[in-house]
Amino acid sequence: MDRVTVALGDRRSDIVIADGLLDRAGALLANHIRDSQLVVVTDANVAAAQLPRLERALLRAGTTVVPIVLPPGEATKSWDQLRRLCDALAEHGVRRGDTIIALGGGVVGDIAGLAAALHLRGCDLVQIPTSLVAQVDSSVGGKVAIDSAAGKNMVGAFHQPDLVIIDPLCLATLPQREFVAGYAEIVKYALIGDADFFAWCEANSPALIARDQSAVLKAIQACIAAKAAIVERDERDTDGPRALLNIGHSFGHAFEALAGYDGTLLHGEAVSAGIAIAYGYAAELGMCDPASADRVAAHLAAHGLPINLPAALGTADGTAIVAHMMRDKKNRGDALTLILPTAIGHAEQRPDCAPAHVAAYLDRLRP
Ligand code: GLY
Repeated sequence: MDRVTVALGDRRSDIVIADGLLDRAGALLANHIRDSQLVVVTDANVAAAQLPRLERALLRAGTTVVPIVLPPGEATKSWDQLRRLCDALAEHGVRRGDTIIALGGGVVGDIAGLAAALHLRGCDLVQIPTSLVAQVDSSVGGKVAIDSAAGKNMVGAFHQPDLVIIDPLCLATLPQREFVAGYAEIVKYALIGDADFFAWCEANSPALIARDQSAVLKAIQACIAAKAAIVERDERDTDGPRALLNIGHSFGHAFEALAGYDGTLLHGEAVSAGIAIAYGYAAELGMCDPASADRVAAHLAAHGLPINLPAALGTADGTAIVAHMMRDKKNRGDALTLILPTAIGHAEQRPDCAPAHVAAYLDRLRP
């Protein structure tokens, strides 16, 4: 079992990674069990695919699961579902100091994590991510949020999980489209900090996308080690390295908002398009070699990931996209803050991007 620590004093997180860990949940969660029961927040798809494994593992340890099952999909990250979830936690008698388990992908991790931050001003949280996006990125680091009318992840908190249990075998039931979308987040880690890892991705992505167990495990380990180091240095995302994890996300979050969070554009697909566009824009600004931008786009496209304005945007033009980007949490003043690459393996925060210039660039990408 691989063990990674995010050393943040009393907000320390332990992350354990190995095939089959869900079946060992009884022992792993022993410190989190009160009154022989555990509240598990999940969604309907994961409840069907993975909850029975967790229930069996906990039953062997003499513990029953109290499941709270949410609808699947990004639309669940809403005020309405958050209120329902908080009401359900109260109805189930979850007390301060109790542990809430988030069993699911990024959506479940985000809303369950936010509910854990809010219920009684804070409960303990264990993340058991079941999607590739969540296993390589979102389950670690404590960012939890819902979407609001103002945009993606606009209402949230930092609430570190005590424990993250990553069992790559949970990915077996993940639809291939979601698996491939998650690959964009793996590529992200290579692009912001590790050119050798990008070369590894180029060599090994066919095996990884075919779900070769050792390739998947290696990619998860690389991403989680990188994320843990970044979160330790910049937990609150305050002008430090954590912002780099947002490469492609200013564009991507705007694409998701314009597409309507209805499943037509997955988060990882939006991030893929955003990363390719960030490289293209950086090349346009002379920050990055155009050959590197082409290499990144070719790699993402080789796996069917979008590298241009997604069709789900419909008639939205550069001005409409930038209007959403202007709400991004990184922005200061009237300018856009973008994470732009200078190479493969290196990116920078640029707080001075002119909205009209970005809009004009996006308009040039329209079909
Ligand atoms: N997923 C980006 C972050 O955790 O900062």
